Amino acid sequence: MVLKVFLCALLAICVTHIVALDLSQSQWIWTDTNELVPIYVSRDFRRDFTSPAGKIALDSEILIVADNNFTLYVNGEFIGQTFTEVESAFIFKYCVQLNPDYNVFAVTVENLPYTENPPGPTAPSPAAFRSAIQITYTDGSSDIIMTDTNWRANNVIPGFQSIHYNDSSWPYAVISPPGPIGGWFYTLQNQPDVSGVSLAGLNDPSYWIWTDEIPPQQPSSNAPIGSRAFRKRIEVPGGSVARSGVIIIDSDNAYVLYINGNLIGSGSDWQVAQRWKFTLDYPTDDIVIAVNATNSGGPAGLIVAIGFDAADCNCTTTRFAISDGTWKANHTVPAGFEQVDYDDCDWTPVVVEGAYGVAPWGQVTVQNAN
Ligand SMILES: *[C@@H]1O[C@H](CO)[C@@H](O)[C@H](O)[C@H]1NC(C)=O
Ligand SMILES: *[C@@H]1O[C@H](CO)[C@@H](O)[C@H](O)[C@H]1NC(C)=O
Ligand SMILES: *[C@@H]1O[C@H](CO)[C@@H](O)[C@H](O)[C@H]1NC(C)=O
Ligand SMILES: *[C@@H]1O[C@H](CO)[C@@H](O)[C@H](O)[C@H]1NC(C)=O
Ligand SMILES: *[C@@H]1O[C@H](CO)[C@@H](O)[C@H](O)[C@H]1NC(C)=O
Repeated sequence: MVLKVFLCALLAICVTHIVALDLSQSQWIWTDTNELVPIYVSRDFRRDFTSPAGKIALDSEILIVADNNFTLYVNGEFIGQTFTEVESAFIFKYCVQLNPDYNVFAVTVENLPYTENPPGPTAPSPAAFRSAIQITYTDGSSDIIMTDTNWRANNVIPGFQSIHYNDSSWPYAVISPPGPIGGWFYTLQNQPDVSGVSLAGLNDPSYWIWTDEIPPQQPSSNAPIGSRAFRKRIEVPGGSVARSGVIIIDSDNAYVLYINGNLIGSGSDWQVAQRWKFTLDYPTDDIVIAVNATNSGGPAGLIVAIGFDAADCNCTTTRFAISDGTWKANHTVPAGFEQVDYDDCDWTPVVVEGAYGVAPWGQVTVQNAN
């Protein structure tokens, strides 16, 4: 992955996006003009694009917003996803490297209830999504693809995101009508930069986690005294690389935090979380967060939120990640556990204790640590 970066930089094929991309020319699209979509039901969308003769595609900047939940793929690779109804007010941005001559953009959009907790109205409702994709060529020129009737739309088909999938039998998407009950009349806002990272989340909160020595969803249960190791590997998709970011961390009772093998800092008061700025030794698509967390009695927990800049040639955006059930833990703190290449395949998944705000920790103070 480092090689890709050097190729990009050394061959000086990174080019400048001159015009700022926005969604103003794009349309909200769906499978059917007046379809009321049951909640938790999804539709699939595809748009393939062949580079014009003599042009070699290099990279893309993708803006996307969906009512409600989207999963974005480029050439079959998973690029990004939103999870909550509230996130459908945000325009997400992705930077993705492209194939030279042929690329497929594929999106699954799911209709969600207005609010999940407490549950809001669950009647079928309108759904739609909107995207603008700027494709930049090696000669510095670019094309923009908008959501319009050139996209294909269908019910969910497993494997539809593959670059080899044949969508010629799919109907074309239709433009969603404006209307008083349309679910997509949010005041759209751009996703925040790294300064927007918080334990409460963009909208999805971080979760308190610990080892499987305590039962799930019982944050007040007592955990064994001692230190435990936690790891999370974040792979930046689409050929983007990360360079720097901001991480917020708190632990009951203490932590030592490493990112890509480097010591970032430590803390020992669960009532005060720390916010650390970090810079990676070299740009990489592989970020490993490692924490040595120590419980000195009673309940134990670890909570993390991270935002980092991800860049592909001239496109830069912010990605976010949180502590959740995808982290891994060990009942000891093995030597070298903080290294990127440490093999944690026999570690166990963490137990999720509850979302940020849950007792006994409640809302914590966040302090700038550097
Ligand atoms: C969002 O959609 C994906 C599939 O596109 C699904 O796996 C995920 O569970 C959805 N999230 C929610 C909160 O429903
Ligand atoms: C895609 O499928 C159609 C029939 O549904 C067929 O006519 C066409 O040749 C196929 N295209 C490719 C590239 O296989
Ligand atoms: C992209 O190009 C613009 C204009 O030259 C420049 O201001 C910006 O810093 C560049 N961004 C990246 C990530 O290189
Ligand atoms: C983990 O933290 C504890 C408490 O600070 C310390 O005694 C121990 O040496 C640390 N272990 C490793 C492997 O860093
Ligand atoms: C902890 O790590 C060691 C060394 O990698 C491994 O043998 C052990 O299975 C791990 N234990 C747990 C509970 O993950």
